[in-house]
Amino acid sequence: LTPAAAGAIRPGFLAVAGNRLDQVTVPAGYRVQPFLAWGTPICGDYPAFKADASNTAAEQAQQMGMHHDGMHFFPIDLPQGGNSSSEGLLVMNHEYVEPDLLHPAGPVFPRTAEQVAKEQAAHGVSVVHIIRQADGQWMQVAGSRYNRRITVQTPAQLAGPVRGHAKVRSRYSPDGTACRGTLNNCSHGVTPWGTYLTCEENWAGYFVNHDAELPREQARYSVPRQQSGYHWETAQPASEQSLRFNASQTAASATQDYRHEPNTFGWIVEIDPFNPQSVPVKRTALGRFAHEGLIFAKAVPGQPLVAYSGDDSRFEYIYKFVSAAPYDPATASGALLDNGTLYAARFNEDGSGEWLALDLTDPVFRAKVAAAAVRFDSQADVLLNTRLAADIAGATKMDRPEWGAVHPQSGEVYFTLTNNSRRQAAETDAANPRPENVFGHIIRWREQPQAQKFEWDIFLLAGPTGTATPGTALQLTADNALACPDGLWFDPQGLLWIQTDMSGSLQSEGPFGNNQMLAADTAGRELKRFLVGPVECEVTGVVTTPDGKTMFVNIQHPGDRSTPTAFTSHWPDGGNSRPRSATVVITKEDGGVIGS
Ligand code: FEO
Ligand code: CA
Ligand code: CA
Ligand code: CA
Repeated sequence: LTPAAAGAIRPGFLAVAGNRLDQVTVPAGYRVQPFLAWGTPICGDYPAFKADASNTAAEQAQQMGMHHDGMHFFPIDLPQGGNSSSEGLLVMNHEYVEPDLLHPAGPVFPRTAEQVAKEQAAHGVSVVHIIRQADGQWMQVAGSRYNRRITVQTPAQLAGPVRGHAKVRSRYSPDGTACRGTLNNCSHGVTPWGTYLTCEENWAGYFVNHDAELPREQARYSVPRQQSGYHWETAQPASEQSLRFNASQTAASATQDYRHEPNTFGWIVEIDPFNPQSVPVKRTALGRFAHEGLIFAKAVPGQPLVAYSGDDSRFEYIYKFVSAAPYDPATASGALLDNGTLYAARFNEDGSGEWLALDLTDPVFRAKVAAAAVRFDSQADVLLNTRLAADIAGATKMDRPEWGAVHPQSGEVYFTLTNNSRRQAAETDAANPRPENVFGHIIRWREQPQAQKFEWDIFLLAGPTGTATPGTALQLTADNALACPDGLWFDPQGLLWIQTDMSGSLQSEGPFGNNQMLAADTAGRELKRFLVGPVECEVTGVVTTPDGKTMFVNIQHPGDRSTPTAFTSHWPDGGNSRPRSATVVITKEDGGVIGS
């Protein structure tokens, strides 16, 4: 690909060295401050965080959840067309929980209903009204009507083709229009009309199905057969909120039947942060898989809206959605996401690529479905089984697609492929060129957004110092060696921010140090390490205020390998404290634009 259009700025800071410190390290001339750590009260009665984790489930539902992930800053005056950089709504995901740290002495088995309820309350999304004070410090606006928690128990709606389908009807919603909660919310998206999208990633592991044979809409997503990840279904006393995670037909009866509960997860969920009464809406036309995020191409009035989403699992796919109706800024709403065509990507060996329609009205797809002897009763059935549809279409199996980002000037699309240690040499291809890809890479493509063809190349191969990206001058140095790229975001100036998610063992074995964030000038392929997180965290989620002068970054699961009695990190509170996921606020001492 030719270099991106002018407009990108070169990272102007001095790179920070990789390290294993239990702190957040930023370049000289920058300030960093923890903010909105797990347990911080944000709504209701504002119950104070208890350092021994003895807050109740009801209290947790009024506090910041655990394991901060994707996030966006919505200027407070956005609905009036404004772009405030001093006041707004910070909206973020809480991807999952660590029971060893969420409860004073860790989880008990069988689970108690109270522990299950607390874990469910620590998942989901937080909406926090925040403001910058005269001294430059950010604080939350206590008592604001916008402050809100959305959890595993929050009522939600289904919209798009799957709404009302037989496979989402339940005792809770006999007409298949409603469902409950959201979980494993990873990355995120922001619509052109100013709503937040939360994405359901590894939802399958929250369920169990003990039946001899699983339906394809569960089997292809690896719903466990023995035990769910958190054992919620074992809670004593049993409750609706625990039993609904057991999808077994054999467990169903006249009064309990949760066979279709897993079909209400795996979606992109729209939340209007400016309407605290709004009900989250699952937009089913965007497909059902381990959604990492949803990233929009530049919305052009009069043209269809285009968005991309990765399915973060080994050998899964990258998708594109193209709306049926054209984008009109005066009327655009979530309804635009309910009707359109979903495509899966094929990356050809020669650097060309194709979008393969997963749509029963498409004759090529219909012929492939017939040849595969697979039956879909409707487009809703295709969407429920998105992975199967992409298998049939012949999409390219990728090395775990995580976040995507669209260059604000050139429109180039970048995607992280975080790693795939299971790819064998015989399974490599030009887009996934390394066997046992433990370090990951970043791919990019250029296309006319509604086009069905594109051109792609590999932007970088991650790895230790000296790792080269073939066909480019890029060779990683001590200033930018990285592994397992995951979070990805273009700031308004066109600087690409790359966040890493190495395992605890890769961080401790080296040579990279703790997880980190780098900034890249994509035109010059210049790359510098900007931030290093504390021990055993993941750095995930980044956004700035519109003026670029305040940056928010999420630090997820510091001290990931802690036990209830031995904490491997004490960030951010220090001393002997239990580690807490938190946002950090980054500013420049001279008040300038971050990264400049
Ligand atoms: Fe939750 Fe794929 O990261
Ligand atoms: Ca991720
Ligand atoms: Ca990851
Ligand atoms: Ca994570």
